[in-house]
Amino acid sequence: MNTSYRNAFNKSIENPANFWLEQAYKLNWTKPPTEALRFNDNGSSMWFPDGKLNTSALCLDFHIDQGRGHECALIYDSPVTNTKASYTYIALLEEVNALAKGMQEMGLKKGDTAIIYLPMIPQAAIAMLACARLGVVHSVVFGGFAPRELAIRMDDAKPKIIITADAGIEVNKIIDYKPMVDEGIKLAEHKPEKVIVYNRKISNNCPMGSTDMWWQDFHKPHHWVNPTPVLSNDPLYILYTSGTTGLPKGIVRENGGHAVALRYSMEHIYGMKPGEVFWAASDVGWVVGHSYIIYAPMLLGCTTVLFEGKPIKTPDASTFWRIIEEHKVNTMFTAPTAIRAIRKEDPDGNFIKQHDLSHFRAQFLAGERCDADTLKWTQEQLGVPVIDHWWQTESGWPMIGQCLGYGTDPVKPGSASFPIPGYNVQIIKEDGTVAGANEEGLVCVKLPLPPGALADLWNDTARFTRGYLEPVPGYYFSGDGGYQDEEGYLFITGRVDDVINVAGHRLSTAEMEEVIAAHPMVAECACFGIHDDLKGQVPMAMIVTTHDATESEALEQELKTQIRSAIGAIASLKTIVRVERLPKTRSGKILRKTLRAIVDGTPYTMPSTIDDPTILKEIEHLFETHINQ
Ligand code: COA
Ligand code: AMP
Repeated sequence: MNTSYRNAFNKSIENPANFWLEQAYKLNWTKPPTEALRFNDNGSSMWFPDGKLNTSALCLDFHIDQGRGHECALIYDSPVTNTKASYTYIALLEEVNALAKGMQEMGLKKGDTAIIYLPMIPQAAIAMLACARLGVVHSVVFGGFAPRELAIRMDDAKPKIIITADAGIEVNKIIDYKPMVDEGIKLAEHKPEKVIVYNRKISNNCPMGSTDMWWQDFHKPHHWVNPTPVLSNDPLYILYTSGTTGLPKGIVRENGGHAVALRYSMEHIYGMKPGEVFWAASDVGWVVGHSYIIYAPMLLGCTTVLFEGKPIKTPDASTFWRIIEEHKVNTMFTAPTAIRAIRKEDPDGNFIKQHDLSHFRAQFLAGERCDADTLKWTQEQLGVPVIDHWWQTESGWPMIGQCLGYGTDPVKPGSASFPIPGYNVQIIKEDGTVAGANEEGLVCVKLPLPPGALADLWNDTARFTRGYLEPVPGYYFSGDGGYQDEEGYLFITGRVDDVINVAGHRLSTAEMEEVIAAHPMVAECACFGIHDDLKGQVPMAMIVTTHDATESEALEQELKTQIRSAIGAIASLKTIVRVERLPKTRSGKILRKTLRAIVDGTPYTMPSTIDDPTILKEIEHLFETHINQ
């Protein structure tokens, strides 16, 4: 473990207040904080409580004031529309002001909320920064989510406006966004006052009603909007993520801690300097998009790449390398699934060889477990450090990884390496004690959490306390299992709850079960994640039907359609198996983990609490004789 990293980590744990105040003073606060840390009654932390700032001013105005306004802030690269564009810091601020002025004239002000449902176009960044400028709390919803998901978020976040576009493009399919927004509004109890629609002119199905307005008419070019100072602990955004119930959780991110932590992470984890180019190949609808497409690169004054495309098929597996060469990307972030997809199409890395990647310094991977094979292939093909790092929507920035800015250590396949400064990660056993080397347990973080990590759940502090702080007193409970080896390398083994990870997308099997169980012909159902060579995991559903159920194929098709229209295509539910009975404990809990082991063909021990062991034998037999044939 290199000494610079070790020293920084120790300082951050021994005296978090001093460590983070020193980082905080690197930002241009409206009113610098005098106090670092205060605790809430439930043990959660409030960072820099008396500081005041504006996140959009730190991302834009600050760099312009430093004389860097003509440098490139954002590059838009869209192979699906054959478009490339770039925005200087000055140009981006003009766009942000234009939208913020329209919002201000509409009466939006600090503390109001807005939902952003946009594809990967620059207007997504502009909308987020315009909200931040006014102190309006944004909630971005991933474009792959269906109207019902939008409605759930509308009812919780209660947005005054929704900002959307006529359509998005998935490879070569036009996805009409506006009808989905309309459907979401119909389903929701809370109705927004206005829907602002950015007209890309790519859809033939964009109905406009009396409360809808084109972005192009709504925004007010050539206007200046003063950034509204907000308190450090005022929320910047809400981002909904899947939990263990059907209802997503609204992670609340505060302005001050977020800005301090993300700026720190850009410099020290990703080893970036102002003016360099960073590319996170994700979507603004996920936390990676929030943190590393939009806010972090701009907080440090880097150039960010906003990519509207896929690792393959847009047009082929060379796209990533073309972008790295063309836009001189220094450091990139993607999910292992994307690398697996590229490798499948180009196993010998022929496309990679055709591109000049001489300025490329590091490839970061996250979002799901990185298998050893994918890590090795990426290392061999790219010849730069390949760093697996672990984090969550809740943390907002990495918790385990390697800090390029402090110098790297050797990586171990399957391990995300070491705790990041600020995160005192420990493995806790079921009895509440700290695990020894190589002993498996729950991955937890000793409190206090550093700046930038979640502060609360929107409208639901009780769920926040119950879900994250109470399971292991004195710690933040991540929901993941893992272990630490004798050299301090941490290994994440997977979720210990019903959350699954499909192509780096976090989804709730509980929510899928709710949708399937609502079908009148389904008596019972269990949904769980099974191994998939490309996407890491995909969901599978086992159903017990009622006596009057129709033949299997028609019912399965109906259920798959129901999942697509309730959650979205990204749920990727492709396999539904009809069984006679589901295995349960004596208290009636379905044994999903054991079912997963049977389907994946991994060894399992017969649960001592099982009610009727013969059911497992029936299911094993079914898989041996039919499904796996
Ligand atoms: N809007 C609407 N639909 C979307 C969507 C969006 N933003 N994103 C995905 N979908 C749809 C897809 O079109 C697909 O629909 P289909 O079943 O009708 O074909 C479905 O959701 C599943 O999409 P996806 O998970 O992307 O699978 P795929 O088979 O189309 O593509 C990969 C496979 C590997 C190319 C793709 O999963 C990928 O790029 N993975 C990396 C993702 C990533 O970077 N995750 C990290 C987030 S931090
Ligand atoms: P999300 O909140 O969507 O970012 O998903 C977070 C979850 O993804 C974590 O709780 C982990 O289960 C998983 N995850 C993210 N990064 C990694 C990683 N590097 N290794 C293993 N699992 C990961």
